[in-house]
Amino acid sequence: MRNSSKTVELLATDNSIAIIGLGYVGVSTALCFSSRGFSVIGVDVDREKLTGLRKGRSPFSEDRVTELLSEAREKHTIEFTDDFELAVRKSDTIFITVGTPSTRNGSIDIAQVKSAARSVRRALGGHDGRNKLLVVKSTVVPGTTNGVVRPTLNGGGGGRTNLGLAVNPEFLREGSAIADTLSPDRIVIGADDGESGERLVALYRRFYGERMPEVLMTNVVNAEMIKYASNSFLATKVSFINDIANMCEKIPGADVKVVSRGMGLDGRIGRRFLDAGLGYGGSCFPKDVRALLAVADRSGTELRVIRAAHQTNALQPLVAIALARSLVGSLRGKRVALLGVAFKPGTRDVRDAVSLKLVRELRKRGAEVVVFDPEALSNAKKILGGAVAYAKSIEACIRGADCCIIVTEWDSFRRLLPEDFSKMRTKALVDGRRILDPNLFLNKMKFAAVGYGKSSR
Ligand code: UDX
Repeated sequence: MRNSSKTVELLATDNSIAIIGLGYVGVSTALCFSSRGFSVIGVDVDREKLTGLRKGRSPFSEDRVTELLSEAREKHTIEFTDDFELAVRKSDTIFITVGTPSTRNGSIDIAQVKSAARSVRRALGGHDGRNKLLVVKSTVVPGTTNGVVRPTLNGGGGGRTNLGLAVNPEFLREGSAIADTLSPDRIVIGADDGESGERLVALYRRFYGERMPEVLMTNVVNAEMIKYASNSFLATKVSFINDIANMCEKIPGADVKVVSRGMGLDGRIGRRFLDAGLGYGGSCFPKDVRALLAVADRSGTELRVIRAAHQTNALQPLVAIALARSLVGSLRGKRVALLGVAFKPGTRDVRDAVSLKLVRELRKRGAEVVVFDPEALSNAKKILGGAVAYAKSIEACIRGADCCIIVTEWDSFRRLLPEDFSKMRTKALVDGRRILDPNLFLNKMKFAAVGYGKSSR
């Protein structure tokens, strides 16, 4: 049944929010708003996910999410539904937080964004949407909101909507999603009409109160661009330090950890995202860099620096293999233990994780691989299946191995000492994340680390 425009206006209140798409960003945003007294409706098409959320089960592991979920359920500040119409009718502000996965050619697939916009249009039921604001929080390439979302809202014979429209990119990190949402460095708002932007700022003022972060207000396309430029810049920072690390390895006495510390003391450079390792992974950096490169290609722009960052990242896992070979020779028939499969510590996420590339490369070279991770093994199994053996502990993983590679910097790996490796067949260790002190290991076993030029020490 279609809603009359009157109903639409009557039901929505100022602090009522709909979140369409209950992935990482959607659930975290929903819970943060509900924790501050906003009335939130989370919408998703996945019934199983909705049932879990209604029972207080988070679809992913994330600090504070379960706690906030049970608080929200107790206070009845959140509901979960697949009824778009209900959600749109009852909400003043509607956030789109659906996924924008990579396609084969590196572009993003915006089918879910389109479908969310179509559902919003349908849910308006002929009402022109005045007094409501639609906010695109999903990561979409420049041009998508005006080129796809806006026409979708206006199409389908429903007449032109007067729904406010803004872009509000999300910068939260996995593992600290709630903390990042509650105190972000900045809020970026893109709107092509002053009113939509002002309405979103007002919403955030009610949310943050006296702790309102700095706001950058701009047009829609700049806001879309800021998200991609930010992630590509951070990815470039990581690839930059990895390049330097690869050079340090060849220079006796050089150590990338000291180099990055020294660089980071310069306020213009900054210390963050200068940790050398085996490359970046996860659901954002690889996807966003690929998407920006694909869009640039189409517009005839050559993003040389970003392309180089991308290429460096693709090759960086091979550094672990080169270091392993420098310690134990050919890897054919050797048993290699990988400590860590999650793309970073504090998460179960293995999307685009370095570990997956490493497993492929090691197997290509004839190695037998065994993996351990404190949290991410079940997700790894879904992708790696029978390609590797799965160990239940660090000890079980390295026992009998010919080489061990640290792939993810979990805290439990930071505490490892040379004696923990005594049951290996060949005592050889590659620190792919620079979490161990080389001086503790170098005289006790074969040891190499990313960015550590050890030979004439
Ligand atoms: C990132 C962005 O930080 C966030 O703003 C955006 O919204 C989503 O993408 P996330 O993917 O959760 O967040 O992880 P992040 O902590 O940024 O790390 C990304 C990757 O870079 C990881 O694989 C990490 O191991 C790697 N990394 C990061 C490094 O190798 N070195 C560093 O110094 C920092």
